[in-house]
Amino acid sequence: MEKNFKRTLVTTALPYANGPVHIGHLAGVYVPADIYTRYLRLRGEDVIMVGGSDEHGVPITIKAKAEGVTPQDIVDRYHNIIKDSFEEFGISFDVYSRTTSAIHKETASEFFRRLYDKGEFVEKTSMQLYDEEANQFLADRYVTGECPHCHNERAYGDQCEACGTSLNATDLINPKSAITGNTPVLKETRHWYLPLDKWENNLRNWILEGHKEWKTNVYGQCKSWLDMGLQPRAVSRDLDWGVQVPVEGADGKVLYVWFDAPIGYISNTKELLPDSWQRYWKDPESRIINFIGKDNIVFHCIVFPAMLSAYGDNYQLPDNVPANEFLNLEGDKISTSRNWAVWLHEYLRDMPGKQDVLRYVLTANAPETKDNDFTWRDFQARNNNELVAILGNFVNRAIVLTHKYFGGRVPAAGTRQTADTDVLKELSEIKVSLSENLDTFHFREALKDAMNIARLGNKYLQETEPWKLAKTDMGRVATILNTALQICANIAIAFEPFLPFMSAKLCRMLGLENLRWDILGTDGIMAADVTLQPAELLFEKIEDETIQAQIDRLERTKEENKINSFKATPQAPDVEFDTFMKADLRVGTVLECKKVPKADKLLQFLIDDGLEKRTIVSGIAKYYAPEDLVGKQVCFIANLAPRKLKGVVSQGMILSAENADGSLVVIGPTAPVVPGAQVK
Ligand code: 2FM
Ligand code: ZN
Repeated sequence: MEKNFKRTLVTTALPYANGPVHIGHLAGVYVPADIYTRYLRLRGEDVIMVGGSDEHGVPITIKAKAEGVTPQDIVDRYHNIIKDSFEEFGISFDVYSRTTSAIHKETASEFFRRLYDKGEFVEKTSMQLYDEEANQFLADRYVTGECPHCHNERAYGDQCEACGTSLNATDLINPKSAITGNTPVLKETRHWYLPLDKWENNLRNWILEGHKEWKTNVYGQCKSWLDMGLQPRAVSRDLDWGVQVPVEGADGKVLYVWFDAPIGYISNTKELLPDSWQRYWKDPESRIINFIGKDNIVFHCIVFPAMLSAYGDNYQLPDNVPANEFLNLEGDKISTSRNWAVWLHEYLRDMPGKQDVLRYVLTANAPETKDNDFTWRDFQARNNNELVAILGNFVNRAIVLTHKYFGGRVPAAGTRQTADTDVLKELSEIKVSLSENLDTFHFREALKDAMNIARLGNKYLQETEPWKLAKTDMGRVATILNTALQICANIAIAFEPFLPFMSAKLCRMLGLENLRWDILGTDGIMAADVTLQPAELLFEKIEDETIQAQIDRLERTKEENKINSFKATPQAPDVEFDTFMKADLRVGTVLECKKVPKADKLLQFLIDDGLEKRTIVSGIAKYYAPEDLVGKQVCFIANLAPRKLKGVVSQGMILSAENADGSLVVIGPTAPVVPGAQVK
């Protein structure tokens, strides 16, 4: 049932401050949240959008250790980069803070303490892995070992990245501490657990009965968690980075990062509105919308609501959690560690001024119901064929024609004809659909609606052809251009949530201020006689070279990753020295080299081996041009029994090393030697 609300709190998942943000973050959380918030603002609603960096947790401590700096150094660096990126992309936070702020530590600490005092936790001891040399308990990520499922030897204590299984550190075969490399021991430790089982029925009713309108991906995930049955969850950790557990005798223990992070939404609101923050959290006439990615669903729909319920004091649960699926990049999962991402700060460097293009493409392709793919070719096509050819083109034509026929002054409309009234009717219908799609978080569809306004405009000019009437009927031209300019103004409003930079530029050209949603869909936005600014292009074509440079960069990353992830094959069993000496290894000089006909892979060599000239065939044709090898010295096995390959008898074998990508590199001496020199 639709609830009547007076105000809206939009929260956005707090990104970890252990790296910059990429297009996946933008597409999944921040662009949709920003679209929604801007839309509500245009409607004149009371809305705030809060966010901040998630600055605790183990990955930050690992990164700090790897760089030999403090965790604070890491979060200071990335918080600033992330904040700048959001600002540059027009993500219009009312507050963007951080979980290392004093107000957050105080809020999170008080939250824990109240639950503790109310007896909402259960205290339990358990056996955890401990590094005796480093004198500390090992967080799951600090333990590596063999995966008990697929036997990958580099699995982490919380997950095996080879087979994707979630693990407990104590499940690993042959565990090693990532800090010292030592084998950890099991040691007893005490932690506080939130008994989620206690809240299971309430959560079940609240979500499964009360929120059937939630997106199916969110509802489905909640249902499957609830159907599995909820277990108590530890909310503290043995770690020296985080919010201290505010209880006697809890030295060395901090709040689990997933306990303190969502409380960040409360701290952010407090920071923004020290005196009135409670209105957004505790008034039943307020609503809270959490924008997140799908990996955060359980924390926002199960754990945090249980925390808020345990706290009591009228805290409201979220009204909706429109979580998105994931965005892939060129067919592969975005990965920070493999540098498989389009980083926002790099995008801005390479595509200055094109924030709206990315906002457009990420919304048009948003992973709303399933994982989606970002490709640079699609980015180019959407820019050139949609933003330039449809939107930019229409606006440009309308403004240029107004300058041409009316010296840039908005002409007053005469009596409208059917073509005009039809277009205005369609405009008001688009508004209905657009609003409905925005209200229900269907941003892809909403963007299509907005784009349909520009399509409508183009069609209208094409059909009415004002340039043909200029000599005969200026009154009609005035009506047509007035209508076209009203459509331009509609574009400025409808696109403001999606493409705020374009909208602002268009407003400057049209002399529009104070956009409001209620005038969308009407022809009363542009007043007659207002003087327009000269037409400026809203979008420009993106050339193939620009796109190719991005594709090439990703190709290079792929190659680097292959090399970095290369793992040498295990060593072969030992052989006796005498056995090795049976192979007669020598160096020869390549006299001739040519392709073997009808064999793609083979090269035929004529080698000076110091005694005579011998023919050797080698399967390296894919990696060398024959002429490049002539004159080079190569190692070969001289006494390998002759073999016929594609009709050519090969008297030996040239030695090559196989690279990470499977390519072969011929082995030779590092300085010239006499042909026939033995390899010992
Ligand atoms: O998944 C993440 O990136 C988390 N840092 C999100 C936290 S959301 C909220 F709870 F703060
Ligand atoms: Zn595995």
